[in-house]
Amino acid sequence: MNPNQALWEKGDFTRIADTMRETGDAAVEGLGAIKGLKVLDLGCGDGTTALPAARRGAEVLGVDIARNLVAAGNARAKAQGLTNCVFREGDASNLHQLDDHSFDLVVSMFGAMFAPRPFDVAKEMVRVTRPGGRIVMANWIPGDPTLVAQTLQISSAYSPPPPEGFVSPMTWGIEANVIERFGAAGIPAEKISFARDTFTFRSSRSPSSFVADFRNYYGPTMNAFAAAEQSGKAADLQQELEALFERQNRSEVKDATVISATFLRVTVAV
Ligand SMILES: C[S@@+](CC[C@H](N)C(=O)[O-])C[C@H]1O[C@@H](n2cnc3c(N)ncnc32)[C@H](O)[C@@H]1O
Repeated sequence: MNPNQALWEKGDFTRIADTMRETGDAAVEGLGAIKGLKVLDLGCGDGTTALPAARRGAEVLGVDIARNLVAAGNARAKAQGLTNCVFREGDASNLHQLDDHSFDLVVSMFGAMFAPRPFDVAKEMVRVTRPGGRIVMANWIPGDPTLVAQTLQISSAYSPPPPEGFVSPMTWGIEANVIERFGAAGIPAEKISFARDTFTFRSSRSPSSFVADFRNYYGPTMNAFAAAEQSGKAADLQQELEALFERQNRSEVKDATVISATFLRVTVAV
């Protein structure tokens, strides 16, 4: 099985996504007027961005490698009565089922960054966007001190070394890499802009319960715990993550969690 697909189907990302709805909606609001636009949400998960885009009148296709998340997205769209939002299985590195220039807007919130072969990902995103259209990506930043970058950094320290040739998803958070990848897809640097922004996770559960959600449902952290259990270091990993989540929590409500994380927003004019 495709290891990238296995990683994301392993857990149940909907459990984490439930803490992302509010900022997901705000991120879509930040895209400006999208009514009537054809929107592709790449690495869409269960629709944190796709559903709010459809509610604002866009015609949305969500594409994700994880079949459980595609099913969850379609179920959520149905439950919300959204007939203009469809989810389909697909790989951001190879969107062969999608025609050239078929979208006005391609969005990827922390999605396409996790696909293998980043140069192919950039090429595919550009290929399916119509000239005059836009690509917007949200990418975590390597070495950033906030939640997700730190969670991934801590998790990788407990995981076995990646296979040879593996390109870290976090490299999508480095501007020079982004420019190089879109440059190879024919986009000059002056058509690419960058901004730092904040994404807030909100859970009605305590920081340690939120860590448990990552341990039980978030593929990269599940893998780290599996490796740490084998090396007898699972308790250390648990402790490191709990300390991180506690430190970053700014909820004023007892036993609830509100944590903001910084990301790099990339906007490409095609
Ligand atoms: C961190 S989640 C973000 C999901 C969603 N965009 C959100 O903001 O809730 C990463 C998503 O990327 C998807 N993904 C990973 N590799 C992919 C690939 N090669 N092609 C398409 N989706 C992929 C995963 O299945 C997962 O849904």
